[in-house]
Amino acid sequence: MTEKFEVHEHDVLVIGAGGAGLRAAIEVLNQGASVGVVCKSLLGKAHTVMAEGGVAASMGNVDPADNWKTHFRDTMRGGKFLNNWRMAQLHALEAPERVRELEQWGALFDRTDAGEIMQRAFGGHTFKRLCHVGDRTGLEIIRTLQDRGVQLGIDVYMECTVTRLLKDGDRIAGAFAYWREQGRFVVFKAKAVVIATGGTGKAWKITSNSWEYTGDGLAIAYEAGAELMDMEFVQFHPTGMVWPPGVQGILVTEAVRGEGGILRNKLGERFMEKYDPKMMELSTRDVVARSIYTEVREGRGTEHGGAYLDISHKPAEYVKRKLPGMYHQFKELADVDITKGPMEVGPTCHYTMGGIRVDAETGAATVPGLFAAGEAAAGMHGANRLGGNSLSDLLVFGKRAGEAAATYAKNSGAVKIEQAQVDDAEREMLAPFDRPNGESPYEIHRELQDTLQKLVGIFRNEGDLKEAVKKIAEFKQRAGRVHVDGSRLFNPGWHLARDLISMLTATEAVARCALARKESRGAHSRIDFPNYDAEWGKKNNIIIKEGGEMKLRERPVPQMPEELKQLLADEK
Ligand code: FUM
Repeated sequence: MTEKFEVHEHDVLVIGAGGAGLRAAIEVLNQGASVGVVCKSLLGKAHTVMAEGGVAASMGNVDPADNWKTHFRDTMRGGKFLNNWRMAQLHALEAPERVRELEQWGALFDRTDAGEIMQRAFGGHTFKRLCHVGDRTGLEIIRTLQDRGVQLGIDVYMECTVTRLLKDGDRIAGAFAYWREQGRFVVFKAKAVVIATGGTGKAWKITSNSWEYTGDGLAIAYEAGAELMDMEFVQFHPTGMVWPPGVQGILVTEAVRGEGGILRNKLGERFMEKYDPKMMELSTRDVVARSIYTEVREGRGTEHGGAYLDISHKPAEYVKRKLPGMYHQFKELADVDITKGPMEVGPTCHYTMGGIRVDAETGAATVPGLFAAGEAAAGMHGANRLGGNSLSDLLVFGKRAGEAAATYAKNSGAVKIEQAQVDDAEREMLAPFDRPNGESPYEIHRELQDTLQKLVGIFRNEGDLKEAVKKIAEFKQRAGRVHVDGSRLFNPGWHLARDLISMLTATEAVARCALARKESRGAHSRIDFPNYDAEWGKKNNIIIKEGGEMKLRERPVPQMPEELKQLLADEK
């Protein structure tokens, strides 16, 4: 490759600097390989911080009966048995060790009276299992991993967006990217790449995700030949803010319900009694989100189209100590004192359960040299993720992917990148400046968000999903004609033009998988197919690029060993 651009070389390149990316990078260094971490935003600004209420690990500090088997069972039950069983098993087994390790690295968890890490209740978890730091657990985890990574000397490339994976024959050879500030292009050469870019929540209108979450990692992996799996499963967190309009979608942590918060409709009815009388507010997220949505749709919603969530029956001092973030969030953004009255909440797009299909042990994708971890990887959560399992997922599988990527890189020869690939990536990025009559990417993004919110939301049906697939195809055509003004120097319109391509790829996969799955399971609720279908419980939806087109395939769900089946026998 002629060195036309700035080039950086590492054994392993990690794309994404949330919890999964940082944990992977730390492990690459532990394995004696070199690592670069590239992130779209500033280091430390990641969706990981939106897992506020805790990290799930069966430490048994508050409920001594807890153990990995119960955690495994809860996770499989929450995922409606579509999870990759081995991932769920490894996750349940290794989460406590990963949390203890974080503590050794300086994470300051809340404490029990006996001085152990405090754990709280969360939806779908049999025991009090979520180790937490008030309602800022994700933030503390990011801070700890960031400190550890910086201490160990990871190379970080901030405000840099990867637009393409580069290959040497069939294997991964690096990535093409640009610096967001100056618009200069940069090439990363690496023998292995770990994708840890999170999900694609910014494609929906009401979302807890910030601007970074446009499905970039999913799209570039797909373009490089990787398989995406079970993309239909998009999690709507039951409680986001609904008022005022400017803050709609901002997360209201499940910890509010974990600490005893009660949901009511405008008639004052505690409506979860109707939908899940056993688990009530601590039912799984898919159930609580559907319940709130139904109350609103049937005319029992609050003034601004949500439900009331009330924790004011607890002592004010307790609320402020356990939920300091929520106290300040509502005071400052909505002028509501949550120690005195209820919050107004409604579902918000929060998490992508689908993602890159990976090997359970290593996080290896189907393209040699490509790995994925955290939200970008599929399998761990099946049809619905339990709250708190995201943080434990990214710790367990971030470490595993980092280790496997380092081992792969150490055992592989040097990579070569053909100039033509880089030139092509550059051409693609510059094209929007050369289309004088194209339209603005902002309008297409707005329409995409409206479309997904309306047609690929909590409840779905065939007509809507067909319409969504059609509209996404039209948006793709229009996105290919987008025009941006100005120069490459900090140019948000240009950035969005690129992000739009990723969002459209990722959400086309969502809509196609959702249309194909003719049943209701977890976060995927089909009005026209309201029940589980045992046959659909045996297969994962696979998306792959073939002959330049997006194709949908099915794969059998991996067979679970007998002893684990036994664990689940009662639950089925
Ligand atoms: O509600 C929350 O604190 C979010 C947690 C999660 O998504 O795991």
